[in-house]
Amino acid sequence: MVRIKENIDIAPYTSFGTHARVERLVEWDNKHDLVEFLRSEGAAYIAPGSRWTILGEGCNTLFTKDFAGTILRSTAKGIEILEENEDYLIIRASAGEVWDDVVAWCCERGLWGAENLSAIPSSVGASAVQNIGAYGVEAKDIIDKVEYIDIATLQEGVIKGSECKFGYRESIFKHELSERVIITAVCYRLSKHASPHLDYGTLRPEVEKSGDVSPMGIRRAVVAIRDSKLPDPKKIGNAGSFFKNPILPREQVEALKAQYPAMPIYEVAGRPECLKIATGWMIDSLGWKGQQMGRAGVHKNQALVLINCGDATGSEVMALAERICEQVSEHFGVEISPEVNIL
Ligand code: EPU
Repeated sequence: MVRIKENIDIAPYTSFGTHARVERLVEWDNKHDLVEFLRSEGAAYIAPGSRWTILGEGCNTLFTKDFAGTILRSTAKGIEILEENEDYLIIRASAGEVWDDVVAWCCERGLWGAENLSAIPSSVGASAVQNIGAYGVEAKDIIDKVEYIDIATLQEGVIKGSECKFGYRESIFKHELSERVIITAVCYRLSKHASPHLDYGTLRPEVEKSGDVSPMGIRRAVVAIRDSKLPDPKKIGNAGSFFKNPILPREQVEALKAQYPAMPIYEVAGRPECLKIATGWMIDSLGWKGQQMGRAGVHKNQALVLINCGDATGSEVMALAERICEQVSEHFGVEISPEVNIL
């Protein structure tokens, strides 16, 4: 089925909850109906020159102004097993599935791979676009392939995970395939053999509290850490980390580390010439934690998370973000950029 809503307020469809009028929201729960719609009535909405975009759970998007165009949103649900042997299982999840429901499904069955990514607010489609990551694991580590509809031909296509050009919060879907495909499902490969990743931050001590080193035990530990640091978007509008952690040349990071010995730094897999630094730490050390500017603020437990303190406009959030960027640049000589998609 395809449902069309015209001239709506997008706030309830995003975790930031900033108000903006959207000309048209098109929700689809079945790819065949979507293709049929885009061949006929909906053809004009995605024709060259028309404005359109895709929204998942709306957990990584900030609307700063009205959107004169079409927003496509999948409400397609379903998790199915595609392949199974004694080592692994490949599952297909529909694009509109809630990511954490997929993680729960895997952990309940004792399958390994998704547990560190527990409780990330995201849709399945966005897990691939954004290459969501947490606690030393990224979606790319388990994405086997991504199924999509090609906008130009309306044909179905498949791209292997290894061809998705995944990087830190990056993928082919943000670049070459941006506005060229609609993701319909993502297939994940989960292992039947124990493969815990416990080396990030406080994850190992949190797991040791219960001693349960199973996918479900690790899931509970991750949820406990996230609950202690990150605001619940159902209660306080936010989009998780607002900024990315910059990846910089090793010499630049070593010079910063010499000046600020407490600055957390991380190796970047496959890029020995670079190091990643923690933007949250920089913003925190500038005294922003718990501060407010207009109706936008910086979360009291995690400086990387900007929040809607109540009816903030998208412009107020952006004004705060810009002030923070300027100060980080002046103080540390580092340019930071948003992780959140700004519309
Ligand atoms: N830190 C501070 N003060 C703060 C925030 C962080 O000193 O206010 C320090 C921490 O103590 C730690 C370091 O900075 O030493 C990194 O902090 P944390 O482990 O909380 O991770 P992060 O870099 O702030 C990233 C992801 C998160 C993910 C966590 C855990 C990005 C942009 N964010 O945050 O992902 O949950 O690591 O893996 O990479 C998201 O993308 O929305 C998100 C929440």
